[in-house]
Amino acid sequence: MERFGVSMERDLLVQLDALAAERGYPSRSEVLRDLVRAELVARQWEDPRAEVVGTVTIVYAHESHDLAHTLADLQHCHHQEIVCNTHVHLNEANCLEVVIVRGASKRVREIADTLISTRGVKHGRLVCTTTGNSRPSPGKA
Ligand code: NI
Repeated sequence: MERFGVSMERDLLVQLDALAAERGYPSRSEVLRDLVRAELVARQWEDPRAEVVGTVTIVYAHESHDLAHTLADLQHCHHQEIVCNTHVHLNEANCLEVVIVRGASKRVREIADTLISTRGVKHGRLVCTTTGNSRPSPGKA
């Protein structure tokens, strides 16, 4: 572990400490490390060829006409990128599905957009995370 000094405006430091306290970070170093990692993951997603992983969460009405079928068909179409999914019957009317998608960031975004924009999906969100390998994709200049 390397150590270095950081200069920061007092007001910004107060806000950093408040954020750390609110989220339960044990130290400024830990919150700073996580902020840097979040930025690096966001940067990784900007490279359309970078291998990434994400989770797509969708909520939809169980009785929406053909929707469950449509969503299953879409997932079959993208079976090479879809790692797995989990389906939860939330209540009498609604289902929640979490789909784990892995591949080039451009493909993962396209698949997520397709699932989320499917007619009848009430809410959907892609969480962009990392395989843990932060190196640039092969061939990236
Ligand atoms: Ni269900």
